[in-house]
Amino acid sequence: MEPARRQAEGGRSLGPRGRGLFGRLFQGMRAVTPPRREGVAIAVASGKGGTGKSFLATSLAVLSHRAGKRTAVVDCDFGLACDHLLLGVKPTATLQQLLHGQATLDQTLCTSPCGPRLLPGASGVRRMANMSDKDLVAFAHQLGELAAREEVLMLDLGAGIAPATILTMLCADWIVLVTQPEIAALVDAYAVVKCIAQMESKARFLVVVNRVPEPGRGKLAFQKLTEVARQHVGVQLEYLGEIVEDASVTQHRLGQLPLVTTDPEAPLALGLETMARRLQALCGGFAQREVEAEAGIEARFKRHRLFM
Ligand SMILES: Nc1ncnc2c1ncn2[C@@H]1O[C@H](COP(=O)(O)OP(=O)(O)OP(=O)(O)O)[C@@H](O)[C@H]1O
Ligand SMILES: [Mg+2]
Repeated sequence: MEPARRQAEGGRSLGPRGRGLFGRLFQGMRAVTPPRREGVAIAVASGKGGTGKSFLATSLAVLSHRAGKRTAVVDCDFGLACDHLLLGVKPTATLQQLLHGQATLDQTLCTSPCGPRLLPGASGVRRMANMSDKDLVAFAHQLGELAAREEVLMLDLGAGIAPATILTMLCADWIVLVTQPEIAALVDAYAVVKCIAQMESKARFLVVVNRVPEPGRGKLAFQKLTEVARQHVGVQLEYLGEIVEDASVTQHRLGQLPLVTTDPEAPLALGLETMARRLQALCGGFAQREVEAEAGIEARFKRHRLFM
């Protein structure tokens, strides 16, 4: 018998008093886990290190904020965080203090001069690079709290396939996989796709090919990657776009803001703006949507961690 019918029949067979009790119990259960509203969670990931995740995550967050969307960057490069430097922020507390109950979410969140909020990570903290289960549960809770406030969460991951990194990808709505046209970066990007394909996840992949020597090379690299992913693990990848190699991207001084803020009319910044618009369209708009509590980001994270 279908659950809904069973509930209805169960209520009838209890008689009027039983039905009242049944109804109150059922309502009580619903009241414990009401649906909630959450923003879109986008994990920015790569296999190989240094492909440009932090540059892209911070740039896309600035552009999303500029498009009028409530946006936060979460520095998920656990133990080696740097987004505060890229966004011109001096944090007083980091994820480390937040997860260990020494600071609240409000005390940890910073507003960057370029617009988006930042949940800064810790740098040079070995305990954060190797989070305990208690830390992971606390992190899942803070992600849930933040997702309830923002329209977009940009989760800037560390490179590779460490458990906490894979977990964060699994609980995201979208995974922006940043790679480069060289073979080593493409092979490592495929390794990430393969890891995620082995797990039960609804996250979908969008690929960015960064540091291409000339326009058009990104699409060629993507075609190789998507063909291998389709053939070997049956995963469909989507192309988000390419970014050319350009020295003006690199921030050299403390306090220097990202190119999309300092030179928004530069060709590379305009290209990023087009990419940000495409990302928003692919995500069905950057807006909060209603999710059942057990389908929210906190619950997804906690559930996946049981299978790691
Ligand atoms: N299109 C580009 N052209 C030139 N330099 C770039 C480009 N994209 C990124 N870079 C530079 O490459 C370096 C690495 O970028 P970034 O820190 O964003 O990579 P990452 O993937 O976050 O690295 P990690 O794996 O260590 O977290 C930085 O110095 C950045 O300025
Ligand atoms: Mg990085």
